[in-house]
Amino acid sequence: MVNKIQRSAPGKVILCGEHSVVYGQPAIAVPVSGLRAYANVEAAPTEGSLQLISRDLNETISLEVAPPEHPLAAIARETLAYLTLPSPAASLTLWSELPIASGLGSGAAVSVAIARALAAYLGRELQPQEVSALAYEVEKIHHGTPSGIDNTVIAYEAPVYFVKGQPPEIFVIKEPFYLVIANSGIPSATKQAVMGVRNRRNAKPEEYDTYFNRMGEIANAARTAIEQGDIASLAPLLNENHSLLREIGVSLPELDRLVAVAKNAGATGAKLTGAGTGGNVIALTSPENIASVKAAMQAAGATEVWT
Ligand code: MEV
Repeated sequence: MVNKIQRSAPGKVILCGEHSVVYGQPAIAVPVSGLRAYANVEAAPTEGSLQLISRDLNETISLEVAPPEHPLAAIARETLAYLTLPSPAASLTLWSELPIASGLGSGAAVSVAIARALAAYLGRELQPQEVSALAYEVEKIHHGTPSGIDNTVIAYEAPVYFVKGQPPEIFVIKEPFYLVIANSGIPSATKQAVMGVRNRRNAKPEEYDTYFNRMGEIANAARTAIEQGDIASLAPLLNENHSLLREIGVSLPELDRLVAVAKNAGATGAKLTGAGTGGNVIALTSPENIASVKAAMQAAGATEVWT
């Protein structure tokens, strides 16, 4: 056993297909490697139980007494059970650059970083599919009926074409493209957003399935555009996807406004990303317009912006 180990995991953005992916349609997502969650595990005289330290929340709790739904404890327990190993006398410190509850996969990134660090400390480097499966168990505790796209794109740290219940397809981005990511500052609660869509779909199944089918077609077309380096074709697909997300009730006037402002400032396509009802907007922007799009989104109230 090594004395000290650190592992990390990226955030993610869903390019197309959030929500419809829960209903079996394809979606595509890419990692955000510049925004990460980090976990550090080191030996500590903790009398046999792992100490979980959240640097961001300024909280320390022993794994022994942490409640089942505690997000750090849940993934630590899943990982130890998978490895069939007891809790080590160590401390695990977690910190993250990702905004919480914003559609950028903060929860899954935390889980993946912890599973990797704890396993590595105990002498095992986990494969992406192993760490993804462990994080998925924790996603189920917090999100009810997750599709699995967040844990997958974050564990593989590669662009994924994802259909629920199927092995992810990693695909190649032919030409680089640039996204401005802007945080509305409004918390996005995935569980509630997914539940809201489910309730509205139960009331109008045919209408909602038509929306979901179209979102699936958009995801397929977007994958083709990206694989062919045809970024001009990607922009209208993102715009249409945002309109459909509005139709299913997961946008907000604040998100619509950020989308409109980004397009006025030169973005060719923009949409909310993730569960919506808050969280982040992505804007497809050519390199020469990045500064003006960022400035316009900040002036329109975005609390944080990244490229
Ligand atoms: C959340 O990042 C994406 C949703 O589609 C939920 C899910 O796929 O589990 C809203």
